[in-house]
Amino acid sequence: MTTIISKIFYGTLIHSLSLTELEFIHNALLGVDNRGKIAFLERNVSNEQTLRDIIKKWEATEDKVVRLTNQQFLLPGFVDTHMHASQYPNAGIGMDLPLIDWLNKYTFPLEQSFSSVKFAEKIYPTVVSHLLRCGTTTAVYYATIHLESTKFLAKVVQQKGQRGFIGKVNMDCNSPETYVETIESSVKDTVQFVDYVLNLKNDPPDVSSLVTPIITPRFAICCSSELLNALGEVAKKYEIPIQSHLSENTTEIAIVNQLFPQHEDYTTVYDHHNLLNHRTIMAHGIHLSSQELKLIKKRNAGISHCPNSNFTLCSGVCNVRQLLDEGIKVGLGTDVSGGFSKSILDSIRNASIASRVVYLSSNTSDKVYPHLTLPELTYLATMGGAQLVNLENVIGNFIVGKEFDALLIDPEVEGSPMQMFDEIDTIDRIFEKFMFLGDERNIKAVFVRGRKVSGI
Ligand code: GUN
Ligand code: FE
Repeated sequence: MTTIISKIFYGTLIHSLSLTELEFIHNALLGVDNRGKIAFLERNVSNEQTLRDIIKKWEATEDKVVRLTNQQFLLPGFVDTHMHASQYPNAGIGMDLPLIDWLNKYTFPLEQSFSSVKFAEKIYPTVVSHLLRCGTTTAVYYATIHLESTKFLAKVVQQKGQRGFIGKVNMDCNSPETYVETIESSVKDTVQFVDYVLNLKNDPPDVSSLVTPIITPRFAICCSSELLNALGEVAKKYEIPIQSHLSENTTEIAIVNQLFPQHEDYTTVYDHHNLLNHRTIMAHGIHLSSQELKLIKKRNAGISHCPNSNFTLCSGVCNVRQLLDEGIKVGLGTDVSGGFSKSILDSIRNASIASRVVYLSSNTSDKVYPHLTLPELTYLATMGGAQLVNLENVIGNFIVGKEFDALLIDPEVEGSPMQMFDEIDTIDRIFEKFMFLGDERNIKAVFVRGRKVSGI
C-alpha cells in the first residue's frame, strides 16, 4: 500500500524521548499520512532544495506544507488522565470544604442532574470543545451513574474527534438516596454502556475507534464488595481499562479501612477485586504506604497526579518524585471540579509547585526529593499520560509510525500572556515561557490522528 501524505509541517518540533530527554528538532519536516500517522520526520532541513527533494520523494506537493514561523513550534497533544466531565459547571466554585463534605454539598447534587439527557446536552459538548481548545487531545473522563447521559458524552467525544476514555460511574452504597444505583442496574447499565461504545461506528469504518469505555467504580466507599467484584469481571471480560480514586484524603482512607477491615490497606481493596492491573488509572495516590507503592508497581497500574485538586480540596501534596523513583507510571489530571482549571498547562504548573513543596519539606531530612524539571513535566503531560492509557506506542511524541496528536503553538498571538523579547528569547526560552505563562490563546491548532479538531 502506498503512503499518501496529507500534511507536512516545516519548523521546530519539541517532544519528550524519556523523562529526562526533551528534544528540540530544528528545521524539522514532518509528514502525516492520510490515516493520521507520522510517515516521516527529517531533521535540519535548512534549504529549500532539500525540502523540495523530500516532498518529491514522498510524492507530495508544496501546497501540503504548513510553514511555521521562527517562534512557532509543534508539541505532542496533552493527555488529561482524570477529569469529571459532569462536574464542569462547578469548576471554580466550592473550594471551602474537604473531599467528603465537598462531595455531599456540591458534587453529588450537580451530578444528579444528569439523570436528564437534556441537561447533559447542555453541558457535555462545551466540556469537550473547551478541553480540545486547551490542547487536551486525549481525555479520561468520569461521567455520572446515568447510562443515557454517559452514552451521549461518548458520542460527543467521538463526533468532536477527541481521543477519549469514558466512564459510566458506579456507586451502589454510602451515597445520597437520590444519587445511587442498585447493584443489578449498576452492572447491567455498565455492560450496556461498554457494548454501546465498542459498537460506535468509526469514520472511516476500518480505523480503530478513538473512544474507549473505562470501568469506573467511583471509589471504594461508594461501592459494595459485590459490585467491585462484578466490575472487575466486566473489565477482564472486555479487556478494557479501569479508573478510580485512591488515597486522596485521610478521612476517606479511614472510612475505607472501616468498611473493608479484612483488607490490609486501600490499594489492596481494589487489588482484591481484580481492579488493579496494567490498565488501571488511580487518581491522586497521595498518602500511600511503601507496601501500597510496591503493589501498584507490581501490578503496573498508573497514578493520575491531580495537583490543583490536591491543593484546592486540601487533600495533601503528592510526592511524584517518590512514585517515579519506585518506577510507577504517572500522568497528569485536572480532576475538574476538585481542581478548578480545565487546562493541563495548569496541571503542569501546579505539579511543578507541588514538587517544590515536597522538596522544601524534605531538604532538611535524610531523603531529599528534588523538584520536577521541565523535561519531566513535559513528559508527564504527554508520554506519561500516554503510558497510563497504554498508548505509549501510539501517541505522546513525534516518533515515526505514531499517530499525529499535536498542538501548534504560537507565542505571538494578539493578547498573548507570554512576554517575549526578540533579542534574548531563543526557542528554548519561548518553550519554557509557554509552559509557565501560555494559555489556550497560544494554541493555534489542535490535531488528533492528523485531523484538525480545534483552532484555525
Ligand atoms: N472521590 C470520590 N469521588 C470523587 C470526585 O468526584 N472527585 C474527587 N476529587 N475525589 C473523589
Ligand atoms: Fe476525581
